Amino acid sequence: MRQMIIGNWKMHGLRGDGKELAQEIAAAIGPALTRRDVVLAPPFTLTHCLAPLLHEHGIGLGAQDCHAEAEGAYTGDISAAMLADLGVSHVILGHSERREHHHETNARIRRKAERAREFGLCPVVCVGESARQKEDGHAEPWLTEQITQSLPADFDGIVAYEPIWAIGTGKAATQEDIESRMVFLHGVLADHLETDDKPTRVLYGGSVKPEDAASILAVPGVGGVLVGGASLSARSFLGIVQAGL
Ligand code: G3P
Repeated sequence: MRQMIIGNWKMHGLRGDGKELAQEIAAAIGPALTRRDVVLAPPFTLTHCLAPLLHEHGIGLGAQDCHAEAEGAYTGDISAAMLADLGVSHVILGHSERREHHHETNARIRRKAERAREFGLCPVVCVGESARQKEDGHAEPWLTEQITQSLPADFDGIVAYEPIWAIGTGKAATQEDIESRMVFLHGVLADHLETDDKPTRVLYGGSVKPEDAASILAVPGVGGVLVGGASLSARSFLGIVQAGL
């Protein structure tokens, strides 16, 4: 399975610097795209203006959320159909920052994942434990609950494991941590999902940097990485995309 590198720009970027960043990445990414799938997920405000450039260079266009309903009186929200209409292919759902700040529940994320697929988008559902849960030995029950309640049984999208304690800290989980989590998560997914025997792609996210990307991508079971801060620098993001190639 080809590994996937997703850049999650979060709430960063106006049209000028967003276009410049995307152009720098697009200009240098060429050869890596023969070996890896790359998606950029800018803020909604840049989706339309970046679509032609990304599509021209074979880079996927991602989004950072979508609504759980197909359409309706939901002021300020964006539907999966609207994203598909703009050429979005992947949508990040249930990011820990949205679970925290928007009080998103597993049930709501499940409905979002179902809606995303209904409109042809590939959902990238985020799961991850807090530092406290890790310390208290509650990580595995928590991750099991997130997977079994956030993913429909016929889910065929992508899971992103993002330990909350590694996000934005500059300190990624160790290879050993990641490897043991991958074994656990793939086991839970195999038990929960009714999809055919195609393994679910599981990404790692949480302070991925060019310096450690190759070692993270080399961990068995890692289907790619979900990158935050480092995706806002063309040099750093390209360093991750090309790591280990
Ligand atoms: O979605 C990816 C993000 O949560 C990771 O952020 O800055 O730790 O790479 P960062």
